[in-house]
Amino acid sequence: MENIFLTGFMGVGKTTVAAELANLLKRPAVDLDDLLEKDFGCSITEFFTAHGEATFRQRETELLEKVADDDGLIVATGGGLPVSKHNREIMRNSGQIVLLDMPFDTIAERLEKNTTSRPNWKSRDDAKKLFESRKTAYHDCDFTVDATQPPEDVAAQILQKISGVEPFTADIDGVKLPVSPTFKAPSELAQAIAKKQYSAVVFITDDNVATAHLPRYRHALPHAISIVIQSGEDSKTLQQAENVYRQLLQLNIGRDALIVAIGGGLITDFGAFIAATYKRGIDFMLVSTSLLGCVDAVVGGKTAVNIAHYKNQVGLFALPKAIFLDLAALATLPEQRIREGLVEAYKTGLVCAYSLRRFIDENLERLVGGDLPLIANVAARSARAKAEVVHQDFREKGLRKILNLGHTYGHAVETWSEERISHGLCVAQGMIVAMYIAMKRHYIDADLADNHMEIIRLLRGPSFPVPSAEEAFPLMMADKKNTNAKITFILPHTKERFKLVQDITPAELQSAIDAI
Ligand SMILES: NC(=O)c1ccc[n+]([C@@H]2O[C@H](COP(=O)([O-])OP(=O)(O)OC[C@H]3O[C@@H](n4cnc5c(N)ncnc54)[C@H](O)[C@@H]3O)[C@@H](O)[C@H]2O)c1
Repeated sequence: MENIFLTGFMGVGKTTVAAELANLLKRPAVDLDDLLEKDFGCSITEFFTAHGEATFRQRETELLEKVADDDGLIVATGGGLPVSKHNREIMRNSGQIVLLDMPFDTIAERLEKNTTSRPNWKSRDDAKKLFESRKTAYHDCDFTVDATQPPEDVAAQILQKISGVEPFTADIDGVKLPVSPTFKAPSELAQAIAKKQYSAVVFITDDNVATAHLPRYRHALPHAISIVIQSGEDSKTLQQAENVYRQLLQLNIGRDALIVAIGGGLITDFGAFIAATYKRGIDFMLVSTSLLGCVDAVVGGKTAVNIAHYKNQVGLFALPKAIFLDLAALATLPEQRIREGLVEAYKTGLVCAYSLRRFIDENLERLVGGDLPLIANVAARSARAKAEVVHQDFREKGLRKILNLGHTYGHAVETWSEERISHGLCVAQGMIVAMYIAMKRHYIDADLADNHMEIIRLLRGPSFPVPSAEEAFPLMMADKKNTNAKITFILPHTKERFKLVQDITPAELQSAIDAI
């Protein structure tokens, strides 16, 4: 894994930003100046005075070479280090060079408060000359970020660039909907809300997300009111909806208020359902914090609650005012949740975005291992691919059904397990079943199907009990894709991309289940 080298003039915040990045990426941060001081057994200023700059630079390069041999590090470099072309080559060969850019006057204001530990700070004029003389060397980097922002936002800029994610507009049902995959969702949400005149802002979230991420949102929007429900599918009910309506009424939340659902797919489905029905519908925004949510739930305008153990049986189509994919939040997802999201992303790749499917295939190990920039990339690409399908068929009359690949048997597994097995893992089983049936029907080449099934198995992880065809058939009768009271399966098809079939027999399904 590549190292990330943070460069820039003294005082731009390299050490603090390195720590922020290390925290989000779960990778070690090293500070070259700290390491040097440990090595010297004295401060850099003392070493400079005793041995001179040439000796210091030589020792600095030796240390850089050592660090560059390692991988996956976030390295805060000394201010003068990139001046040497040789040092820049060492960094470039071992990772990416990121310049933390800041105007000289801002740096001077920061440093004039404390210049004792800066050997190169003699006077403002001398420092300015030094700054100007280093400019060209500094700008010989992979990319630049604005370091005048708070450290967490600087780290967010870096992750945004490394992940290669960009905001986009989803065109759904004639509405242009801004979708922002972002590492600074709370401040972007606050900016989006500030543009409107809402009488109140209500966050709806669940207990897990409230613990891990609500403080970030409260900090950005201190006046927002929070409603926290218990996590898990048992909360996605009409009874829970009524509890929330009652709370909103008690809080005097009017039609001119805004609801912001912050959480995984359950919360964005549920929060959107509440907003779309409370007082006949009020404005809402969605913030997705789970990979599965980003990949599959948050873009598409579907809202729902479950009835008994039947999934998403009551709901309506409704569009939010804005969507945020909180990419920083993905850092706190456990491995299994990452796997679930990857399964859905692989499905989207299979049916409508081949380059995404290939990207997952090529980076499988690092994705499952939690590599945040790669995961962020998958989240954003997948959301975009889904938005394109939804644009073509918002109300799921035709094309959009392809996104249900794996969901017919998958939902049956979910209902049968009484939601003890998560949605994403159930969909993985459903995809293997659909792939196997397609292969047996010669819709798809056997080698290709085997390859896909193998990848889905790797993404899913260890197998678990599933219902037999006899148990699954009655459950699949409740599937929303069914027409003419017939169970509808989406099967991959090499020539036609996918096929909707209604003639799958229990025996055929059972042979596929046995293949799981
Ligand atoms: N509307 C749609 O088109 C659509 C599509 C797919 C799935 N869904 C729905 O989405 C739900 C499944 O999505 P999900 O897996 O995100 O469900 P979820 O919202 O239940 O999230 C799964 C778990 O992860 C936790 N979580 C969420 N974000 C976290 C974070 N950043 N860090 C730590 N924990 C976090 C949650 O608290 C929960 O315990 C189902 O209800 C499904 O029906 C809807």
